[in-house]
Amino acid sequence: MKNFREEAQALGEEIIAMRRALHEHPEISSQETWTTEFIAQELRRLGLTVLPWQGETGVVALLHGKKEGPCIALRADIDALPVQEKTGLPYASKIPGVMHACGHDAHTASLLGAARILAENRDSLNGTVKFIFQPAEEVSTGAASMISLGVLENPTVEFIYGQHNQPEAPTGTLLLSSGPIMACMGLTKITVRGRGGHGGIPHETRDPVVAAAAIIMSLQTIISRETDPFQPVVITTGSIHAGTAGNVIPDSVEMQGTIRTFDLRLFDELEDRMRRIITDTAHAYRCEAEFTYVKSAPYVYNPEDLTEWLTSGPLAKVFGPQNIKPLRPKPGAEDFAHYQAKVPGVFAWYGSGNETINLPWHNPGFTVDESSLILAAAAYAQVAHDWLEKNG
Ligand code: NI
Repeated sequence: MKNFREEAQALGEEIIAMRRALHEHPEISSQETWTTEFIAQELRRLGLTVLPWQGETGVVALLHGKKEGPCIALRADIDALPVQEKTGLPYASKIPGVMHACGHDAHTASLLGAARILAENRDSLNGTVKFIFQPAEEVSTGAASMISLGVLENPTVEFIYGQHNQPEAPTGTLLLSSGPIMACMGLTKITVRGRGGHGGIPHETRDPVVAAAAIIMSLQTIISRETDPFQPVVITTGSIHAGTAGNVIPDSVEMQGTIRTFDLRLFDELEDRMRRIITDTAHAYRCEAEFTYVKSAPYVYNPEDLTEWLTSGPLAKVFGPQNIKPLRPKPGAEDFAHYQAKVPGVFAWYGSGNETINLPWHNPGFTVDESSLILAAAAYAQVAHDWLEKNG
């Protein structure tokens, strides 16, 4: 029975050095060219097969074990955010206005650490490990784009494992539950058209601002009057733009929003329910409305059998069974859901906080407790090894 925790510990300084190098060179979604080269170079140095990849950024590599067998994929995201860093750390971002404020530098470095551990142990692998370094997670396009370019084929991925840091949980803990743990995410766009005119003579106009205000309020009644109170739904109007002056009624209003739900049927039905309220409310105010609803990502759903196996098996070896806690679902979204819609997969959260490191993701002062990277690397490696041992 292999246990990779000690091997990860021995590599700790190197994993942390890689994280710091990545942290200094953050790149926003779909522009991760330096990062892509950094990852590919390291994987080649370890003797992995870096696959030719049509995507402009991102890396896919294979590690073949001692025999032909099934293929497990390990996924890390690699992109940063348009945030000006204010951590004051010696290895803070060197790129103005761009920062690894969600810890994807830690994810990348820990998966590179796992690649090193697994490469050194390739004779104990009953199959193939596919390493997926995915771009553009923050804009929810990376996973879908990689899938369309065939990342789950050749060899066919039979199981995919992903994980994310969680600064609200202390280093050493792991949060994992089965079922839906992150929400389906839809993106909405509403245009309300009326007829503009003088702000002091409103009866000669068709005021789209008043219609838009009514639409925003009425949409909330879908949650209070139309859906089951035990079914979580979020409808947010996050952006509203109209007008140029206080005494001018504009021709139109543009609004954008996001919706969240943990129910796939409701994810479909919300489109018609919202359209009905938007269109009919606009008509009530003598305006017209256009509505687009894009299903950006399904939910992150951990199957019960695989979650149970990970919790009692490989992840218990790395974190200790007493340190694995249930996870309260959050209506955030994660594009890992796209992989899970195609192949069995599990997504887990490892604690990366301590008494002084606890700022939330996307905060300019965000950082991770670097000792959590060692456990994250061990977790990736242990899951791959044990899954191949069981299935290979
Ligand atoms: Ni993230």
